[in-house]
Amino acid sequence: MAKKLWGGRFTKPTDPSVEEFTRSIQYDYKLAKYDILGSIVHVEILGKAGYLKPKEVSEIQSALLKIGSGNFSPDLSYEDVHSQIQDALEKKIGDLALKLHTARSRNDQVVFATKVYCIDKLTEVAALGEGVVAALKSLAKANSDIIMPGFTHMQHAQPVYLKDYLGAYVIMLEASIDKVRVAAKEIKLTMGAGAVAGTPIEAKHYNVSMDKYAKKLGIGLTRLKLEPTKNSIYTVSDRSFVAEALNVTAIMATHLSRFAEDLIIWSTKEFDFVDIDEAFCTGSSLMPQKKNADALELIRGSAGRLYGNRMGFLVVIKGLPLSYNRDMQLDKEPLFDSLGTVIKELKVLKGLVGTLKFNKDKIESQLDDESLYATDIVYYLVDKGVPFKTAHAIVGKLVKYSIDNRIEIKSMTDHELSRFSDKFKNKEMIKLFDPKVSVESKRSVKR
Ligand code: ARG
Repeated sequence: MAKKLWGGRFTKPTDPSVEEFTRSIQYDYKLAKYDILGSIVHVEILGKAGYLKPKEVSEIQSALLKIGSGNFSPDLSYEDVHSQIQDALEKKIGDLALKLHTARSRNDQVVFATKVYCIDKLTEVAALGEGVVAALKSLAKANSDIIMPGFTHMQHAQPVYLKDYLGAYVIMLEASIDKVRVAAKEIKLTMGAGAVAGTPIEAKHYNVSMDKYAKKLGIGLTRLKLEPTKNSIYTVSDRSFVAEALNVTAIMATHLSRFAEDLIIWSTKEFDFVDIDEAFCTGSSLMPQKKNADALELIRGSAGRLYGNRMGFLVVIKGLPLSYNRDMQLDKEPLFDSLGTVIKELKVLKGLVGTLKFNKDKIESQLDDESLYATDIVYYLVDKGVPFKTAHAIVGKLVKYSIDNRIEIKSMTDHELSRFSDKFKNKEMIKLFDPKVSVESKRSVKR
């Protein structure tokens, strides 16, 4: 194993099985630029506190910037990203690099880097989410005249506008994006926890502005605020921000999974409501005719894995005594996976939604089903003074009669209808079997 951040009290080398088992560089290299940001800020703090001369500050900072610019490729012989960066710095500037770790611990360092990572990725999720919302809104607008069967229990229920069906996802996603934004906003960036007990550096020195450093490292975040820790034990122990990121991404993945499922069903031959563009489908190695919505299926399925990430992580954390324990290293794979997956899903959906073509004729042919208007017939009776429950029972019998005898309600004579209610008048009722009349009669929806 390459150079470690510790070892003075050890006389034996670490057993290779332990090195292999404990290392995290193979995934935590994703924290490199955020960890370097933390180190650059820490160096400024060390300068303010008098541990480093101004010249040393700028020398270490510019070496760190060099390490942070360009692609950071993980060297799997290191224990973790913090160790690899420290060694890279020692190789660049020699002994001066040994001062960087003054008054800090990886326990504080890893929390800081993971927090900035979360803010960055959650911000990206929110922005991409807005893109999908915009695509859904224009899809709804372009198809605003289409009326479709609304479903409950996957059975025909009542006619609804397609734009409202899509609008339901818009509202769910907007609420989900709000949660993502709140999760990012609630993350407080702090330093000064050290390993657990704090550091000798006065709290006032931790007041550093980070934006210029973030910009230099290509981190697209502004108004990053650093505060001295309020409680060092809390800072190194708490991972609620990780749990929250896993939570809000799991909720968003739920909405995306349901939307994916709707599109998968609607694109079947049986439904034939929508065509998904070829560019967003894949084929079969055996059946030449196939055009499968694999991307949507992966979106549908990935929600399950995201729930696993959230649940699994909560179980890792529960019961951990304060403060830092190595178990906490296990936050990273689920975190990277959940954020990375949602980001990829939103990128796919933004493009896919824009290419959806609805089959208006096929959708509207479903509206011939008279059962979709049964509730409107109940309201017709209610308007004539029949109590709702009585009307419900009457129409239930009428529908059953219509099905059993294969006679459309529309074509029943007043005489036939009067067996169910003397209020029924064919001439008036016939107007009810109009999808437009049906959807427009619902006034409770604020459009
Ligand atoms: N790789 C570790 C993590 O992700 C960094 C902190 C290690 N700290 C320690 N005292 N061993 O949690």
